[in-house]
Amino acid sequence: MKNLTILSTILFLSVILFSAFSSDRPAKKSKQKSSIDKKVDDLLSQMTLEEKIGQMVQADIDALKGHYEDIEKYSLGSILCGGDSEIDDVSAKGWADFYDMLQSHAVKSRLKIPMIYGVDAVHGHNNVTGAVVFPQNIGLGATRNAKLIEKAARITAEEVAATGMDWAFAPCIAVARNERWGRTYESFGEDPELAKTLGAAQVKGFQGKKLSGNTSILACAKHFLGDGGTTDGKDQGNTEVDEPTLRKLHLPGYAAAIKAGTKTIMVSYNSWNGVKMHGNKHLLTDVLKGELKFNGILVSDWAAIDQLEKDYKSSIEKSINAGLDMVMIPNPPGKANNYVDFITLLKELANENKVPMSRIDDAVKRILRVKFEMNIFENPFTDRTLMPTFGSKEHRQVARECVRQSLVLLKNENKTLPISKKVKNIALAGTSADDIGNQCGGWTINWQGKSGDNISGGTTVLQAVKNAVSINTVVSYSKDGSQVGDADVVLVVVGETPYAEMKGDREDLSLSKEDVAVIENVKKSGKPYVVVLFSGRPMIIEQQLKDAKAFVAAWLPGSEGAGIADVLFGDFNFTGKLGHSWPKTMEQIPVNVGDKNYAPLFKYGFGLKY
Ligand code: BGC
Ligand code: BGC
Repeated sequence: MKNLTILSTILFLSVILFSAFSSDRPAKKSKQKSSIDKKVDDLLSQMTLEEKIGQMVQADIDALKGHYEDIEKYSLGSILCGGDSEIDDVSAKGWADFYDMLQSHAVKSRLKIPMIYGVDAVHGHNNVTGAVVFPQNIGLGATRNAKLIEKAARITAEEVAATGMDWAFAPCIAVARNERWGRTYESFGEDPELAKTLGAAQVKGFQGKKLSGNTSILACAKHFLGDGGTTDGKDQGNTEVDEPTLRKLHLPGYAAAIKAGTKTIMVSYNSWNGVKMHGNKHLLTDVLKGELKFNGILVSDWAAIDQLEKDYKSSIEKSINAGLDMVMIPNPPGKANNYVDFITLLKELANENKVPMSRIDDAVKRILRVKFEMNIFENPFTDRTLMPTFGSKEHRQVARECVRQSLVLLKNENKTLPISKKVKNIALAGTSADDIGNQCGGWTINWQGKSGDNISGGTTVLQAVKNAVSINTVVSYSKDGSQVGDADVVLVVVGETPYAEMKGDREDLSLSKEDVAVIENVKKSGKPYVVVLFSGRPMIIEQQLKDAKAFVAAWLPGSEGAGIADVLFGDFNFTGKLGHSWPKTMEQIPVNVGDKNYAPLFKYGFGLKY
């Protein structure tokens, strides 16, 4: 009896202890859970499988055209506009109205979950007329100025937010190792150190101090992993290196971007040793989400999962199981691999247990968490108070500063530069001297960019020179360089015409025949001349460099050509440094800092001053 009492007392006590302990633990845990996690769990618990999968969709605006009610019908999580996806009015107001129209559908969904809208704001809010257009990343890389790059990204964020949009597909932290690659200009340079420091700066600039701030937008480090390392610089190609090399060259930028708080990362089209990144569980889940503790949204590239397997269902299975949280889908209903197919097929896969529910829940939680952190449930629509500073003078001043600091002086014989503002007669030559489209490059209003004036606002070099010189100076312009008259000095502005991904890969990076002819014409005049080169990468210039008195690599500076005049006329000194080793010949490419027999035309980090 006594023993029994003791036993039951012990039992009783242990039950109390155990239940106290066990009930205490979840209580403590839930206390530790942030209020956002609670909101996420609560919302998730109310969602149907179909609604969850809807959140994992990022549909393109062209795909939604005529089907806008699908946004609420499927509770779509995100919408993007691809580089060539158009609306009629591409002014800031036009985009903001369009955004609000889409959002009004999203908040009509059963659980009223707002969508987040992504855009390739890769050098300013470059799909919008009147936006300030910054230098492409290759130019920003030459500035080596993280503070300035953060400031520039802050401005881009303000302009993106002014149009309602939530998310920039930037920074591109590719480490471009072969100049044949047409996306070289989207990369800060060939050294991972640049991706690390400057990429992190852009992340901070976009996201601001708090994600819920009215000018904060989501950053997106891209493209994971090894996009800049493909063999022969082939776009969407194969990066053939061992894992230590892959990590050494291409991973540091991601570690830094995650540390800087990037909320999203985009997976790359490229393969690593023959395996497409979108199906690589080791890198997407073990390395990125495990080792580097990335807890944001992992988004696919444009229809990129479609390249994985022969049928869409298997591609979905493979990529979601590999760790993808959101899928960028450009196809409209009626075309293969559209967003309705995606929802139907992933639902099947979940019901067949081929994609675990835990994986879907994890993806949706990541998406919802970001949405709560942005406070988009409270403020789903465009903040119209941001409109007055869109493309403002103040914003342009910062872009102009970026341009000044991005210029790299390669040669300056007889102190040809700086040019006196009181010079009697200055001639300009070359097609790019008065072409803002060439100045901006790809990803500007159009996907591939376009020669000529399509951005509205900004200054070409010719206009900038006219604004800079004294009223007595004669400024003339001869496109082909044959009419330079009595010029004391000639500025020849030549270089690449716009291109972007898929269309920018080149086997030959010599200047075009037309550009060579312009330079030859100027040379015949016997006048001293300076070449200003607009290009998305180093080009093969040995001969032109020899002949010119001075030579400036200006990259793709964007809308503020005035920054070029600032330096050419000596108001500011050159400070830019090469982010790429400048190759002598095509045969020499790839040539990168740290190579064994390193003998480029100009070394990484080169840049003269006055
Ligand atoms: C590019 C990405 C871009 C996406 C959306 C893709 O083709 O590789 O850099 O963000 O399209 O336009
Ligand atoms: C889109 C781009 C996209 C590209 C890739 C284009 O039509 O506008 O945004 O990156 O296709 O295929």
